[in-house]
Amino acid sequence: MSAQIGVTGLAVMGANLARNFARNGYTVALHNRSVAKTDALLAAHGDEGSFVRTETLTELVDALEKPRRVLIMVKAGKPVDSVIDQLVPLLEEGDIVIDAGNSHYEDTRRREAALAGKGLHFVGIGVSGGEEGALLGPSIMPGGSRQSYDSLGPMLEKIAAKYDGEPCCRWVGTDGAGHFVKMVHNGIEYADMQVIGEAYDLLRAGAGIEPAEQAEIFAEWNKGQLSSFLIEITAEVLAHTDAKTGKPFVDVVVDSAGQKGTGRWTVVSALELGSPVSGIAESVFARGLSSQRDQRAIAQDVLTGHEQQPEVPEGFIEDVRQALFASKLVSYAQGLDMLGSAAKEYGWDLKLDEIASLWRAGCIIRAELLDDIMKAYAGGQQPANLLFAPAFAEAIAAAVPAWRRVVATAVQLGIPVPVFSSSLAYYDGLRRKRLPAALTQGLRDLFGAHTYQRVDGEGTFHTLWSGDKSEVEAVDTH
Ligand code: 6PG
Repeated sequence: MSAQIGVTGLAVMGANLARNFARNGYTVALHNRSVAKTDALLAAHGDEGSFVRTETLTELVDALEKPRRVLIMVKAGKPVDSVIDQLVPLLEEGDIVIDAGNSHYEDTRRREAALAGKGLHFVGIGVSGGEEGALLGPSIMPGGSRQSYDSLGPMLEKIAAKYDGEPCCRWVGTDGAGHFVKMVHNGIEYADMQVIGEAYDLLRAGAGIEPAEQAEIFAEWNKGQLSSFLIEITAEVLAHTDAKTGKPFVDVVVDSAGQKGTGRWTVVSALELGSPVSGIAESVFARGLSSQRDQRAIAQDVLTGHEQQPEVPEGFIEDVRQALFASKLVSYAQGLDMLGSAAKEYGWDLKLDEIASLWRAGCIIRAELLDDIMKAYAGGQQPANLLFAPAFAEAIAAAVPAWRRVVATAVQLGIPVPVFSSSLAYYDGLRRKRLPAALTQGLRDLFGAHTYQRVDGEGTFHTLWSGDKSEVEAVDTH
């Protein structure tokens, strides 16, 4: 029997994707470096659909219909290259190699170019939704050639999450575009979680609301504007009691957040693109600071806060909700803006309405808001920034007074709110008619003759600072 797809790498994500294909009626050839995993999967779930057991990559390749589709789900980095190196000699022109892991998009670009040179398609697909999503319907962001999507797309669309019956899977662009979009999704995911954390901290340390009661607040928030998977699971985590101690679960967990790297990659890439994703960056740094446990322990004795204890303003809970919503909007706006910059840099035709539509179900950042974001970019409307779309300009304006009160209160209480406050700074920075960047330019010109432009005409200028301070026209070489 010929299989329509082969999956190599049967840890949880690979196994669940394989099961998802099989449950959707495809025959799936299975391969894993250690055969024991393949057998364990078949023993536990072999009756869910049609599987072909293979022991070697040669057997896997031989089990597939042509053009072959081989999906790799191994740890990002060297393991992906190693599997590709073993697979390529076994494949024929027109075959498709799919990398469904969280690979860096530059690796995907490199691999795509290398395999294209051999007549093979290499498709990096972003897959979001965790273990459950992989099994029941993830959000899928495929890159690679348009041609490969004709053969692969229908299968991916079948196993993807559905929003109003529409699959959350669509070809997003060539070479590494899929992995780039997934990376930015994760950057937004980091910011989304950080703003939830800041709200929790404000309600706990500022307003003295215990986790169990907060669980109810988050559950309530999940019914409105903030409705999203992450808010829903926040209520679940906060409601959970540790069986061993009887304490709130959140109090027995070490407060240093790990990361596998996609958030950091988003920020590194944004820095290279000159894209101001300040909220996403702050959320990555917040994880970094939380992990500096030794310094944090010393700081307990060494650093003084001089916090004030202002009355927490009336309506604080609602204020925090609005500040959370506004900051969340800014993170999405920054992430989408970064996608726009990347599209120019890499020659991708990224369609922001389509990308937002892929995130409406299945993925970790799924939120009701995403349907509105999709609409904001739909029908040829291209606001230069999400926040300029009338619906969002209005929504964020309504939240601004509460947002300012919350940031001001947090500062006085000494509660760090890096994403709430940097998002507000981004919003104010965008709105500001004149920025102090003019002074920065003046300073650069004085110490390094880096030149500047004038508000009242064309040209590039330099002031003879150490001479008579007259101005000369300059050729900008910096
Ligand atoms: C998803 C997630 C997933 C990611 C985890 C862990 O969309 O399903 O983004 O791909 O690996 O969320 O990420 P960190 O370990 O970096 O927090």
